Amino acid sequence: MDYLEIEGGSPLCGEVRIQGSKNAVLPILSAALQCPGTTVIDNCPDISDVASMLEILKGYGCRICREGTRLIIDAETLHSGRAPEDYAGVMRSSIMLLGSLLARMGEAFLPYPGGCVIGKRPIDLHLEALRRMGAELWEEPEGLRAVCRCPKGAHIRLPFPSVGATENVVLLAARAEGVTVLENAAREPEILELCRFLACMGADIEGAGTDTVRIRGVKELHGTEYRIMPDRIVAGTYMLLAAAAGGKVLLREVPFHQLGAVRQVLRQMGARQESSGDSLLLWCPGRSRGGFRTDTAPYPGFPTDLQSPLMAALCVADGTSVIQEHIFEARFKIAEELGRMGADIRIRDDRACITGVKRLTGAQVEAKELRGGAALCIAAAAAEGKSRICQYHYIARGYENIIRDLKDLGVVVH
Ligand code: EPZ
Repeated sequence: MDYLEIEGGSPLCGEVRIQGSKNAVLPILSAALQCPGTTVIDNCPDISDVASMLEILKGYGCRICREGTRLIIDAETLHSGRAPEDYAGVMRSSIMLLGSLLARMGEAFLPYPGGCVIGKRPIDLHLEALRRMGAELWEEPEGLRAVCRCPKGAHIRLPFPSVGATENVVLLAARAEGVTVLENAAREPEILELCRFLACMGADIEGAGTDTVRIRGVKELHGTEYRIMPDRIVAGTYMLLAAAAGGKVLLREVPFHQLGAVRQVLRQMGARQESSGDSLLLWCPGRSRGGFRTDTAPYPGFPTDLQSPLMAALCVADGTSVIQEHIFEARFKIAEELGRMGADIRIRDDRACITGVKRLTGAQVEAKELRGGAALCIAAAAAEGKSRICQYHYIARGYENIIRDLKDLGVVVH
Protein backbone atom coordinates (compact mmCIF):
# COMPACT_ATOMS: atom_id res chain seq x y z
CA MET A 1 0.00 0.00 0.00
CA ASP A 2 1.43 3.39 -0.92
CA TYR A 3 -0.16 5.16 2.03
CA LEU A 4 -0.28 5.15 5.82
CA GLU A 5 -3.19 6.02 8.10
CA ILE A 6 -2.78 7.87 11.39
CA GLU A 7 -5.41 8.28 14.13
CA GLY A 8 -4.31 11.57 15.67
CA GLY A 9 -5.00 13.33 18.94
CA SER A 10 -3.29 11.15 21.51
CA PRO A 11 -0.16 12.47 23.28
CA LEU A 12 3.06 10.59 22.54
CA CYS A 13 4.75 8.17 24.89
CA GLY A 14 7.61 5.96 23.76
CA GLU A 15 11.16 5.72 22.53
CA VAL A 16 13.03 5.24 19.28
CA ARG A 17 16.63 4.77 18.10
CA ILE A 18 17.67 7.23 15.40
CA GLN A 19 18.72 5.51 12.13
CA GLY A 20 21.96 6.08 10.24
CA SER A 21 22.21 9.25 8.18
CA LYS A 22 20.88 9.17 4.59
CA ASN A 23 22.84 12.24 3.53
CA ALA A 24 26.05 10.86 4.98
CA VAL A 25 25.82 7.34 3.56
CA LEU A 26 25.01 8.37 -0.03
CA PRO A 27 28.29 10.24 -0.72
CA ILE A 28 30.15 7.52 1.23
CA LEU A 29 28.73 4.89 -1.14
CA SER A 30 30.15 6.98 -3.97
CA ALA A 31 33.54 7.10 -2.21
CA ALA A 32 33.50 3.29 -1.86
CA LEU A 33 33.72 3.10 -5.67
CA GLN A 34 37.29 4.43 -5.37
CA CYS A 35 38.54 1.44 -3.41
CA PRO A 36 39.95 -1.46 -5.53
CA GLY A 37 38.94 -3.79 -2.73
CA THR A 38 36.34 -4.11 0.01
CA THR A 39 34.78 -1.50 2.27
CA VAL A 40 32.38 -2.28 5.11
CA ILE A 41 29.72 0.23 6.16
CA ASP A 42 27.84 -0.22 9.43
CA ASN A 43 24.60 1.46 10.58
CA CYS A 44 23.53 1.93 6.96
CA PRO A 45 19.84 2.96 6.92
CA ASP A 46 17.46 0.64 5.04
CA ILE A 47 15.88 3.35 2.82
CA SER A 48 14.99 3.39 -0.86
CA ASP A 49 17.58 6.03 -1.80
CA VAL A 50 20.28 3.66 -0.51
CA ALA A 51 18.69 0.73 -2.39
CA SER A 52 18.76 2.79 -5.62
CA MET A 53 22.37 3.81 -5.08
CA LEU A 54 23.36 0.17 -4.45
CA GLU A 55 21.70 -0.84 -7.74
CA ILE A 56 23.75 1.84 -9.50
CA LEU A 57 26.97 0.58 -7.87
CA LYS A 58 26.11 -2.97 -8.96
CA GLY A 59 25.57 -1.56 -12.47
CA TYR A 60 29.21 -0.50 -12.42
CA GLY A 61 30.35 -3.98 -11.39
CA CYS A 62 30.43 -3.69 -7.57
CA ARG A 63 29.57 -6.83 -5.64
CA ILE A 64 27.43 -5.97 -2.62
CA CYS A 65 26.39 -8.03 0.37
CA ARG A 66 23.94 -6.68 2.94
CA GLU A 67 23.57 -8.09 6.45
CA GLY A 68 20.95 -5.95 8.21
CA THR A 69 22.46 -2.49 8.56
CA ARG A 70 25.92 -3.77 7.55
CA LEU A 71 27.03 -3.38 3.91
CA ILE A 72 30.04 -5.11 2.38
CA ILE A 73 31.04 -3.48 -0.92
CA ASP A 74 33.61 -5.08 -3.20
CA ALA A 75 34.63 -2.54 -5.87
CA GLU A 76 37.72 -4.41 -7.07
CA THR A 77 36.61 -4.61 -10.67
CA LEU A 78 34.45 -1.89 -12.18
CA HIS A 79 33.45 -2.33 -15.80
CA SER A 80 31.67 0.69 -17.15
CA GLY A 81 31.36 4.38 -16.69
CA ARG A 82 27.65 4.36 -17.50
CA ALA A 83 24.98 4.33 -14.81
CA PRO A 84 21.93 2.08 -15.25
CA GLU A 85 19.30 4.46 -16.66
CA ASP A 86 16.38 3.31 -14.57
CA TYR A 87 18.04 4.27 -11.28
CA ALA A 88 20.46 7.11 -11.83
CA GLY A 89 17.96 9.29 -13.68
CA VAL A 90 15.39 9.19 -10.94
CA MET A 91 17.69 9.89 -8.05
CA ARG A 92 19.16 13.32 -7.58
CA SER A 93 22.00 11.96 -5.46
CA SER A 94 23.46 10.01 -8.42
CA ILE A 95 25.28 13.22 -9.38
CA MET A 96 27.67 12.63 -6.50
CA LEU A 97 28.99 9.55 -8.29
CA LEU A 98 30.65 11.88 -10.78
CA GLY A 99 33.71 12.75 -8.70
CA SER A 100 34.41 9.13 -7.78
CA LEU A 101 33.89 7.75 -11.29
CA LEU A 102 36.31 10.31 -12.74
CA ALA A 103 38.83 9.55 -9.99
CA ARG A 104 38.61 5.77 -10.49
CA MET A 105 37.73 5.32 -14.18
CA GLY A 106 38.71 8.65 -15.76
CA GLU A 107 35.29 8.83 -17.43
CA ALA A 108 31.57 8.74 -16.64
CA PHE A 109 28.16 8.98 -18.24
CA LEU A 110 25.27 9.95 -15.95
CA PRO A 111 21.62 10.61 -16.84
CA TYR A 112 20.67 14.09 -15.64
CA PRO A 113 19.68 13.96 -11.98
CA GLY A 114 15.95 14.53 -11.64
CA GLY A 115 14.77 17.88 -10.39
CA CYS A 116 11.96 17.63 -7.89
CA VAL A 117 9.13 19.63 -6.42
CA ILE A 118 11.43 21.55 -4.05
CA GLY A 119 13.42 23.10 -6.87
CA LYS A 120 15.16 22.78 -10.22
CA ARG A 121 18.25 21.28 -8.51
CA PRO A 122 20.81 22.54 -11.08
CA ILE A 123 24.37 21.12 -11.15
CA ASP A 124 26.26 24.11 -12.60
CA LEU A 125 28.42 24.50 -9.48
CA HIS A 126 29.48 20.84 -9.70
CA LEU A 127 30.43 21.13 -13.37
CA GLU A 128 32.32 24.42 -13.01
CA ALA A 129 34.37 23.09 -10.08
CA LEU A 130 35.25 19.76 -11.78
CA ARG A 131 36.27 21.59 -14.97
CA ARG A 132 38.75 23.55 -12.83
CA MET A 133 40.32 20.17 -11.98
CA GLY A 134 40.70 19.18 -15.61
CA ALA A 135 37.39 17.41 -16.28
CA GLU A 136 35.84 17.78 -19.72
CA LEU A 137 32.07 17.63 -19.57
CA TRP A 138 29.47 17.48 -22.36
CA GLU A 139 25.79 17.99 -21.65
CA GLU A 140 24.26 15.59 -24.20
CA PRO A 141 20.52 15.13 -24.78
CA GLU A 142 20.24 11.95 -22.72
CA GLY A 143 22.78 12.75 -20.05
CA LEU A 144 26.11 14.12 -18.92
CA ARG A 145 29.33 12.76 -20.42
CA ALA A 146 32.56 13.39 -18.51
CA VAL A 147 36.23 12.59 -19.10
CA CYS A 148 39.16 13.37 -16.82
CA ARG A 149 42.20 11.19 -17.45
CA CYS A 150 44.51 13.12 -15.11
CA PRO A 151 42.67 15.16 -12.48
CA LYS A 152 44.75 18.02 -11.11
CA GLY A 153 44.49 19.86 -7.83
CA ALA A 154 43.07 23.39 -8.14
CA HIS A 155 42.18 26.41 -6.01
CA ILE A 156 38.37 26.60 -6.17
CA ARG A 157 35.93 28.98 -4.53
CA LEU A 158 32.27 27.99 -4.60
CA PRO A 159 29.85 30.90 -5.15
CA PHE A 160 27.44 29.09 -2.76
CA PRO A 161 28.35 26.42 -0.15
CA SER A 162 26.64 23.66 -2.12
CA VAL A 163 26.67 20.33 -0.25
CA GLY A 164 26.75 18.20 -3.39
CA ALA A 165 29.34 20.30 -5.20
CA THR A 166 31.58 20.21 -2.11
CA GLU A 167 31.25 16.42 -2.01
CA ASN A 168 32.07 16.00 -5.71
CA VAL A 169 35.18 18.18 -5.44
CA VAL A 170 36.42 16.29 -2.36
CA LEU A 171 35.77 12.93 -4.06
CA LEU A 172 37.76 13.84 -7.19
CA ALA A 173 40.48 15.74 -5.31
CA ALA A 174 41.18 12.74 -3.05
CA ARG A 175 43.09 11.12 -5.92
CA ALA A 176 44.01 14.13 -8.06
CA GLU A 177 47.60 15.16 -8.67
CA GLY A 178 48.66 17.84 -6.19
CA VAL A 179 46.66 19.90 -3.74
CA THR A 180 43.09 21.17 -4.04
CA VAL A 181 41.97 24.08 -1.88
CA LEU A 182 38.18 24.46 -1.76
CA GLU A 183 36.91 27.77 -0.37
CA ASN A 184 33.33 28.51 0.69
CA ALA A 185 32.87 24.76 1.10
CA ALA A 186 29.68 23.44 2.69
CA ARG A 187 30.14 22.76 6.42
CA GLU A 188 27.30 20.24 6.87
CA PRO A 189 28.17 17.32 9.22
CA GLU A 190 27.70 14.98 6.24
CA ILE A 191 30.76 16.59 4.59
CA LEU A 192 32.85 15.95 7.70
CA GLU A 193 31.59 12.35 7.75
CA LEU A 194 32.57 11.84 4.09
CA CYS A 195 36.04 13.28 4.75
CA ARG A 196 36.47 11.03 7.79
CA PHE A 197 35.53 8.00 5.70
CA LEU A 198 37.96 9.03 2.94
CA ALA A 199 40.70 9.58 5.54
CA CYS A 200 40.09 6.01 6.80
CA MET A 201 40.66 4.93 3.18
CA GLY A 202 44.00 6.79 3.15
CA ALA A 203 43.00 10.22 1.82
CA ASP A 204 44.88 13.33 3.00
CA ILE A 205 42.27 16.00 3.90
CA GLU A 206 42.50 19.01 6.22
CA GLY A 207 39.78 21.47 7.29
CA ALA A 208 36.84 19.10 6.78
CA GLY A 209 33.66 20.65 8.23
CA THR A 210 35.05 24.18 7.87
CA ASP A 211 34.55 26.56 4.92
CA THR A 212 38.06 25.88 3.58
CA VAL A 213 39.04 22.29 2.83
CA ARG A 214 42.52 21.28 1.63
CA ILE A 215 42.93 17.91 -0.09
CA ARG A 216 46.31 16.49 -1.14
CA GLY A 217 45.67 13.76 -3.72
CA VAL A 218 47.04 10.28 -3.04
CA LYS A 219 47.87 7.48 -5.50
CA GLU A 220 45.39 4.96 -4.17
CA LEU A 221 42.68 4.50 -1.57
CA HIS A 222 42.26 1.26 0.35
CA GLY A 223 39.42 -0.59 2.04
CA THR A 224 38.11 0.30 5.49
CA GLU A 225 35.25 -0.33 7.90
CA TYR A 226 33.12 2.62 8.98
CA ARG A 227 30.00 3.23 11.11
CA ILE A 228 27.62 5.88 9.73
CA MET A 229 26.58 8.65 12.16
CA PRO A 230 22.90 9.06 13.18
CA ASP A 231 20.58 11.07 10.94
CA ARG A 232 20.17 14.59 12.35
CA ILE A 233 17.14 15.28 10.12
CA VAL A 234 15.30 12.17 11.29
CA ALA A 235 16.10 13.11 14.90
CA GLY A 236 14.85 16.67 14.32
CA THR A 237 11.69 15.33 12.68
CA TYR A 238 10.78 13.30 15.78
CA MET A 239 11.64 16.19 18.11
CA LEU A 240 9.20 18.40 16.19
CA LEU A 241 6.65 15.58 16.22
CA ALA A 242 6.75 15.63 20.04
CA ALA A 243 6.32 19.42 20.10
CA ALA A 244 3.26 19.11 17.84
CA ALA A 245 1.51 16.07 19.29
CA GLY A 246 2.43 16.57 22.96
CA GLY A 247 3.44 13.82 25.37
CA LYS A 248 6.99 12.68 26.16
CA VAL A 249 9.51 10.85 23.95
CA LEU A 250 12.95 9.33 24.46
CA LEU A 251 15.20 9.45 21.40
CA ARG A 252 18.36 7.31 21.44
CA GLU A 253 21.55 7.84 19.39
CA VAL A 254 20.81 11.57 18.84
CA PRO A 255 23.63 13.66 17.23
CA PHE A 256 23.17 16.55 19.71
CA HIS A 257 26.16 18.59 18.55
CA GLN A 258 24.64 18.77 15.05
CA LEU A 259 21.24 20.00 16.25
CA GLY A 260 22.01 23.31 17.96
CA ALA A 261 19.74 25.45 15.78
CA VAL A 262 16.92 22.89 15.98
CA ARG A 263 17.12 22.59 19.77
CA GLN A 264 17.03 26.39 20.04
CA VAL A 265 13.78 26.52 18.01
CA LEU A 266 12.29 23.77 20.19
CA ARG A 267 13.22 25.76 23.31
CA GLN A 268 11.39 28.76 21.80
CA MET A 269 8.39 26.44 21.33
CA GLY A 270 8.49 25.61 25.04
CA ALA A 271 9.78 22.05 24.68
CA ARG A 272 11.72 20.70 27.68
CA GLN A 273 14.83 18.71 26.77
CA GLU A 274 16.90 16.49 29.06
CA SER A 275 19.91 14.75 27.61
CA SER A 276 21.92 11.89 29.03
CA GLY A 277 24.67 10.24 26.99
CA ASP A 278 23.39 10.16 23.41
CA SER A 279 19.73 10.01 24.50
CA LEU A 280 17.28 12.90 24.58
CA LEU A 281 14.10 13.05 26.65
CA LEU A 282 11.77 15.68 25.16
CA TRP A 283 8.33 16.84 26.18
CA CYS A 284 6.09 19.89 25.83
CA PRO A 285 4.22 20.77 29.02
CA GLY A 286 0.96 22.12 27.50
CA ARG A 287 0.52 23.54 24.01
CA SER A 288 3.67 24.59 22.21
CA ARG A 289 4.43 28.25 21.51
CA GLY A 290 4.89 29.94 18.12
CA GLY A 291 5.14 33.67 17.44
CA PHE A 292 8.76 33.76 16.23
CA ARG A 293 10.66 33.81 12.91
CA THR A 294 12.92 31.03 11.64
CA ASP A 295 15.28 31.41 8.68
CA THR A 296 16.70 28.31 6.97
CA ALA A 297 20.42 28.53 6.28
CA PRO A 298 23.46 26.41 5.42
CA TYR A 299 24.89 24.55 8.44
CA PRO A 300 25.06 25.40 11.30
CA GLY A 301 21.86 27.38 10.62
CA PHE A 302 18.38 25.88 10.78
CA PRO A 303 18.34 23.07 8.19
CA THR A 304 16.11 23.47 5.14
CA ASP A 305 15.29 19.74 5.45
CA LEU A 306 13.43 20.46 8.71
CA GLN A 307 11.56 23.47 7.34
CA SER A 308 8.41 21.48 6.41
CA PRO A 309 8.37 19.49 9.69
CA LEU A 310 8.67 22.81 11.58
CA MET A 311 5.83 24.28 9.51
CA ALA A 312 3.63 21.35 10.51
CA ALA A 313 4.46 21.76 14.20
CA LEU A 314 3.80 25.52 14.09
CA CYS A 315 0.30 24.86 12.65
CA VAL A 316 -0.81 23.88 16.19
CA ALA A 317 1.41 26.27 18.17
CA ASP A 318 0.11 29.46 19.77
CA GLY A 319 0.65 32.66 17.81
CA THR A 320 1.70 33.60 14.28
CA SER A 321 5.12 32.38 13.16
CA VAL A 322 7.21 33.13 10.08
CA ILE A 323 9.50 30.78 8.17
CA GLN A 324 11.84 32.27 5.58
CA GLU A 325 13.30 29.66 3.15
CA HIS A 326 16.71 30.67 1.81
CA ILE A 327 18.00 27.44 0.23
CA PHE A 328 15.41 26.03 -2.21
CA GLU A 329 13.09 28.05 -4.36
CA ALA A 330 9.96 25.88 -4.04
CA ARG A 331 9.96 24.21 -0.64
CA PHE A 332 6.52 25.33 0.58
CA LYS A 333 4.42 22.98 -1.57
CA ILE A 334 3.31 21.04 1.51
CA ALA A 335 1.37 24.06 2.82
CA GLU A 336 -1.52 23.22 0.47
CA GLU A 337 -1.84 19.72 1.92
CA LEU A 338 -1.62 21.06 5.49
CA GLY A 339 -4.41 23.46 4.54
CA ARG A 340 -6.67 20.46 3.83
CA MET A 341 -6.27 19.61 7.53
CA GLY A 342 -7.35 23.11 8.56
CA ALA A 343 -3.94 24.76 8.86
CA ASP A 344 -3.77 28.57 8.49
CA ILE A 345 -0.71 29.20 6.32
CA ARG A 346 -0.11 32.15 4.01
CA ILE A 347 2.73 31.90 1.51
CA ARG A 348 4.33 34.85 -0.21
CA ASP A 349 7.43 34.15 -2.31
CA ASP A 350 9.95 32.48 0.01
CA ARG A 351 8.12 33.41 3.21
CA ALA A 352 5.43 31.40 5.04
CA CYS A 353 3.23 32.87 7.82
CA ILE A 354 1.68 30.19 10.01
CA THR A 355 -1.07 31.06 12.51
CA GLY A 356 -1.61 28.29 15.01
CA VAL A 357 -5.13 26.81 15.08
CA LYS A 358 -6.80 25.12 18.04
CA ARG A 359 -6.90 21.75 16.29
CA LEU A 360 -6.12 20.28 12.90
CA THR A 361 -8.63 17.81 11.48
CA GLY A 362 -7.70 14.46 9.96
CA ALA A 363 -7.96 14.33 6.15
CA GLN A 364 -6.68 12.50 3.06
CA VAL A 365 -3.47 14.23 1.98
CA GLU A 366 -0.63 13.55 -0.44
CA ALA A 367 3.12 13.56 0.10
CA LYS A 368 4.87 15.21 -2.86
CA GLU A 369 8.47 14.79 -1.64
CA LEU A 370 10.40 13.34 1.26
CA ARG A 371 10.39 15.98 4.00
CA GLY A 372 6.93 17.27 3.12
CA GLY A 373 5.69 13.73 3.62
CA ALA A 374 7.27 13.62 7.08
CA ALA A 375 5.59 16.95 7.86
CA LEU A 376 2.20 15.43 7.02
CA CYS A 377 2.87 12.63 9.52
CA ILE A 378 3.53 15.25 12.21
CA ALA A 379 0.33 17.14 11.37
CA ALA A 380 -1.71 13.91 11.29
CA ALA A 381 -0.40 12.84 14.71
CA ALA A 382 -1.47 16.22 16.15
CA ALA A 383 -4.83 16.30 14.33
CA GLU A 384 -8.24 15.22 15.61
CA GLY A 385 -9.42 12.07 13.78
CA LYS A 386 -7.97 9.91 11.03
CA SER A 387 -5.66 10.99 8.21
CA ARG A 388 -4.53 9.02 5.17
CA ILE A 389 -1.13 10.10 3.82
CA CYS A 390 -0.79 8.94 0.23
CA GLN A 391 2.44 8.51 -1.80
CA TYR A 392 4.19 6.90 1.18
CA HIS A 393 7.09 5.95 -1.11
CA TYR A 394 8.42 9.52 -0.93
CA ILE A 395 8.78 9.19 2.85
CA ALA A 396 10.46 5.78 2.52
CA ARG A 397 13.25 7.46 0.53
CA GLY A 398 14.71 8.85 3.75
CA TYR A 399 12.95 7.32 6.75
CA GLU A 400 13.89 3.67 7.36
CA ASN A 401 10.49 2.71 8.75
CA ILE A 402 8.47 5.73 9.85
CA ILE A 403 5.45 3.49 10.58
CA ARG A 404 7.50 1.48 13.09
CA ASP A 405 9.01 4.63 14.61
CA LEU A 406 5.68 6.45 14.92
CA LYS A 407 4.12 3.41 16.62
CA ASP A 408 7.12 3.13 18.98
CA LEU A 409 6.57 6.79 19.89
CA GLY A 410 2.92 6.13 20.70
CA VAL A 411 1.22 7.35 17.51
CA VAL A 412 -1.80 5.26 16.44
CA VAL A 413 -0.88 4.08 12.91
CA HIS A 414 -2.95 1.68 10.78
C1 EPZ B 1 21.86 18.18 -0.17
O1 EPZ B 1 21.30 18.41 -1.45
C2 EPZ B 1 20.92 17.23 0.54
N1 EPZ B 1 20.82 15.97 -0.19
C3 EPZ B 1 19.53 17.86 0.64
O2 EPZ B 1 18.70 16.98 1.39
C4 EPZ B 1 19.65 19.19 1.41
O3 EPZ B 1 18.39 19.82 1.44
C5 EPZ B 1 20.68 20.10 0.71
O4 EPZ B 1 21.94 19.40 0.59
C6 EPZ B 1 20.91 21.39 1.49
O5 EPZ B 1 21.35 21.09 2.77
C7 EPZ B 1 21.80 15.04 -0.02
O6 EPZ B 1 22.76 15.25 0.69
C8 EPZ B 1 21.61 13.74 -0.76
P1 EPZ B 1 22.96 21.92 -2.43
P2 EPZ B 1 22.17 19.18 -2.59
O7 EPZ B 1 23.84 21.60 -3.58
O8 EPZ B 1 23.58 18.76 -2.52
C9 EPZ B 1 21.56 25.28 -5.49
C10 EPZ B 1 16.79 15.69 1.86
O9 EPZ B 1 15.62 16.00 2.09
N2 EPZ B 1 22.56 24.69 -6.39
O10 EPZ B 1 23.56 22.40 -1.15
O11 EPZ B 1 21.46 19.04 -3.88
C11 EPZ B 1 20.36 24.34 -5.32
O12 EPZ B 1 19.43 24.54 -6.37
C12 EPZ B 1 17.55 16.40 0.74
O13 EPZ B 1 17.46 14.83 2.49
C13 EPZ B 1 22.85 25.32 -7.58
O14 EPZ B 1 22.28 26.37 -7.91
O15 EPZ B 1 22.02 20.68 -2.08
C14 EPZ B 1 19.80 24.76 -3.99
O16 EPZ B 1 18.99 25.90 -4.18
C15 EPZ B 1 16.68 17.44 0.02
N3 EPZ B 1 23.77 24.76 -8.43
C16 EPZ B 1 21.04 25.15 -3.19
O17 EPZ B 1 22.08 25.38 -4.15
C17 EPZ B 1 24.42 23.59 -8.11
O18 EPZ B 1 25.27 23.14 -8.91
C18 EPZ B 1 21.49 24.07 -2.22
O19 EPZ B 1 21.85 22.95 -2.96
C19 EPZ B 1 24.12 22.96 -6.89
C20 EPZ B 1 23.18 23.54 -6.04
